[in-house]
Formats: sequence, structure tokens, C-alpha cells
Amino acid sequence: MNSRTKLVAFTQVSNALGTITPAKTIIEMAHRVGARVLVDGAQSVSHMKVNVQDLDADFFVFSGHKLFAPTGIGAVYGKKDLLNSLPPYQTGGNMIQDVTFERSVFHKAPNRFEAGTGNIADAVGLGAAIDYVQRIGLENIAKYEHALLAYATRRLGEIPNLRIIGTSPEKASVISLVMKGIASETVGAKLNRHGIAVRSGHHCAQPILRRLTGDDGASVVRLLQYLRRDRRDDRSIERHSIGG
Ligand SMILES: Cc1ncc(COP(=O)(O)O)c(C=O)c1O
Repeated sequence: MNSRTKLVAFTQVSNALGTITPAKTIIEMAHRVGARVLVDGAQSVSHMKVNVQDLDADFFVFSGHKLFAPTGIGAVYGKKDLLNSLPPYQTGGNMIQDVTFERSVFHKAPNRFEAGTGNIADAVGLGAAIDYVQRIGLENIAKYEHALLAYATRRLGEIPNLRIIGTSPEKASVISLVMKGIASETVGAKLNRHGIAVRSGHHCAQPILRRLTGDDGASVVRLLQYLRRDRRDDRSIERHSIGG
């Protein structure tokens, strides 16, 4: 970052490694050189409480479906003066304050960015998803997921030829793993046969995963609050060596 940096964009929680980035520090560094900051909270909002004002983020975005909402809806937070200084990126109904043949005056944010009839049904779905998460309590979710993460990390560490990628002490409940000599797609397919759904490949994060795994990609396990640990986990870990 230097005085030529205009915008710093980063994830608050890495989807590939689970790393929780030091968001506040990065934002302070960016502001010191006069840059604006956009924080991608797609992976953080369902795991931790976020206070955009405390972070002092200029923009904060997330996709609703990471929070159990329908696809096609999300949120963009921006500081009021910044949003009002930005031009609309598309035009349509409800975003116009006044139009003549000579000029158009647009509403202030958020209306200036919400051209056309809104995505009402998905907004209701997002509201319901947020209510659901708040009812359980983000602190409870974080605590439970952290316990799952510690347990899974320990048990996966017992499997020969399995390497966990992303070992930051500040980590959300995402585990990326590679099995020596076995493509991540094969690992995913084998786990699928045991009813375990993981994502395989480069996870929209090719540069970092290529650097850490070569061209193999990784299998990502996301530990969510609705997973339960029971005795069957222990038995299945013991019985099914993934490499077998
Ligand atoms: C950190 C992060 N940002 C953005 C995205 C993209 O979200 P969407 O698929 O809703 O565009 C994802 C998910 O794939 C993600 O994990």
C-alpha cells in the first residue's frame, strides 16, 4: 500500500483457508495512505458478529446464501457520503427523483442503486435467515463451530498422508485439506459415498491454493452449526481412511 493505492479489498474470513484476517488493522493501514476499503464478509457474517462502524470499513458486502438465505440476494454497506457520491450503475424505476429532457436527478442511496422492482421475495428470505441466525445467537454459533474445528483438526491430523492447508491460529470453521497423491475431486467423490459433502478444487482462490498445493486443489470442509459430533464420527474416522 502506498499513496497511489485507491482501493483495498480483502476477505474478512478466507473461503479457502478459513483465516480470519486482521480487518481493523488492514483498514487502518489503508486509510493512512488515503485508500478506501471494501471488506468481503461473505464468509464471516454467519460465523461472527460484525460491526461495520467499529471496523470503519468504507464498504462491506456479503452474499445472503452464505447465511442460509436464498441465492440472488446479498447486502452492500457503504458509508453514506461515499454511496451518495457514486453514480448509479444501472437505471430503472424507483431510482429517479426528477427527470426533464435536460437532466436526471437520482435519489440518494440506497434507492439510487436499486433500479427497477426490487427482489422482494429474496429479501424476505434474507430477513428470515438473519432472524434464524440471531435466534441461535452468533456467539453460540461461533463457540460451537470452534469446538468442532478443534475436534476435526485433531482427528484429521491422525490420518496418514492428509495435510491441512491453512493453519492460522485465528481461524473460522473451514478446513482445507489435501491427500498426498490423490486429486481433490477423488477425495470429494469418496467422501460423498459416505454421505459427507465437501467442495473440491480451487474454490475461486486459484493463486493461493496453487501456491500451497501445486495444481491439485484442495477439498474444503465447512463445519457449520447444524453438524453434530457423535460416536459415529469416531467410528467413521477409524474405519474409513480416505485414501483407501
Ligand atoms: C469470500 C467470498 N466472496 C465472494 C463469494 C461469491 O459469492 P457469490 O457466489 O454469492 O457471488 C464467495 C463464495 O463463493 C466467497 O466465499
